[in-house]
Amino acid sequence: MNFARRLMNHPAFALVYERVWRPTSFFLVSGRTMGADRADAVRALRLDRPRTVLDIACGPGNFTRHLSEKNAPGGHAVGIDFSVPMLRQARADNTGPDVSYVRGDARRLPFPDGSFDAVCCFGALYLIPDPLVAAQEMVRVLAPGGRIAISTSYRYRNRFGRAVCAAISAIIGVRFFDNDVFPKLFVEAGLVDVEQQVHGLLQYLSATRPE
Ligand SMILES: C[S@@+](CC[C@H](N)C(=O)[O-])C[C@H]1O[C@@H](n2cnc3c(N)ncnc32)[C@H](O)[C@@H]1O
Repeated sequence: MNFARRLMNHPAFALVYERVWRPTSFFLVSGRTMGADRADAVRALRLDRPRTVLDIACGPGNFTRHLSEKNAPGGHAVGIDFSVPMLRQARADNTGPDVSYVRGDARRLPFPDGSFDAVCCFGALYLIPDPLVAAQEMVRVLAPGGRIAISTSYRYRNRFGRAVCAAISAIIGVRFFDNDVFPKLFVEAGLVDVEQQVHGLLQYLSATRPE
């Protein structure tokens, strides 16, 4: 298990993730605050009508509870993660009347086809050994008319940027994705309205599954 994956399974890291690690490290690599990322997630998933939301690799639930609170009445949010310490932290810090947490692997989601009408995965595809399988699973569980949103790493095209990304990969074990990987996967899976933004070393995508 590489350094990044070991961190995600450490109780001390789960304890400080939401308040210290997430706001600091993501701001350093993207210039984005967690508040901005949360607001964009609510918009991207179109929570102005009640949605059953699946937050994949939810960590300590730092998006899951927020998405449930911003969801229209009648909606529900489910957070799924592989790490027991992260899920323990989620249940301690981010519970609510319309939130639940389950343990599972993003590469084999324990849900039937089309069972959620909003599916997201933030800050995690670069940690998962088969990220494209995980992205296909996201599409599989997305209902017709549903919305999908991801944030993940972005590999710069120029030589210097590639060298920086390669160094980070070698040190902490996260991978970087060219900007065409996820748009192509979404389009090939039949999704429409594919939108992509890049902020620093992160890319953000959203799309719709047609009715
Ligand atoms: C950096 S945290 C992201 C938490 C939150 N989504 C956010 O954006 O702040 C990455 C999470 O991915 C989870 N993870 C990694 N591989 C996974 C897998 N195969 N299935 C489910 N969760 C996984 C880790 O346990 C960790 O909680």
